[in-house]
Amino acid sequence: MQELYHKTITDLVSENFVRASTLYYFGVKFYDYREETLEQVCLEKGLNITTVLSSMESVNKEDVSQNVQLMAYPVDLVIEYLKHSHFIFVKKRLPYIGQLIDGLADVNFRYSSLSKDLKAVFPLFVEDFIEHIYEEEDILFAYIGSLSKFLSGDKPASNVYYGMEKNSIQEFALDHGEHENEMEGLSKITNGYAYCDEADLHIKVLFKELARLENDLKIHAKVEDNILFPKSLQLERLVKLRFHELAKLN
Ligand SMILES: [Fe+2]
Ligand SMILES: [Fe+2]
Repeated sequence: MQELYHKTITDLVSENFVRASTLYYFGVKFYDYREETLEQVCLEKGLNITTVLSSMESVNKEDVSQNVQLMAYPVDLVIEYLKHSHFIFVKKRLPYIGQLIDGLADVNFRYSSLSKDLKAVFPLFVEDFIEHIYEEEDILFAYIGSLSKFLSGDKPASNVYYGMEKNSIQEFALDHGEHENEMEGLSKITNGYAYCDEADLHIKVLFKELARLENDLKIHAKVEDNILFPKSLQLERLVKLRFHELAKLN
């Protein structure tokens, strides 16, 4: 790893665009330090270079390949996992991309028109996305949580009965499918995040990051569609059965 100490920030980021995101989380905008070496930047910012480098390594492994295991988890854990990824999207990924877009015109006047479009469209996407997340957490996850608590005896029947009158997993699932590609607008104005070799490094980093976000959001939605919804449909069915049994007893 020592050989990375003396590389310039531009070289480090050009080799692997995702490194720019690690630098951002350490408070370094890569385009402000293009010609400085990693060692110089760390010294200037009072950062521990080994920590920065090991974070750069681990960001590549931050894969979503653990999804396969999620199928085996109980629904409450799947919800915890989804909430955690919502948190990462909102607190880390989106602010980072927002910052890349903000910095676009400052560093390169050639992109002033694209930067204007992105500045208009990105906040709209963020708004829709946050609304989507709130709806999931406040209504859907809360409803599923109440089903599961009822089955484990932690919630009174009346409470859940009222919730079931208002909600249906099937409707949530259908509605969810309709919001398939949230990033359509962004994909359109960037021509599918395509750039040429000569493009400015800033554009490459930004487009790569947008494509990565789109991919991760698709994976996230798949976990909801293929794991969360089937599991909670089953849960809902069990609760209905339990109600039938209770009704027979009365
Ligand atoms: Fe979600
Ligand atoms: Fe979703």
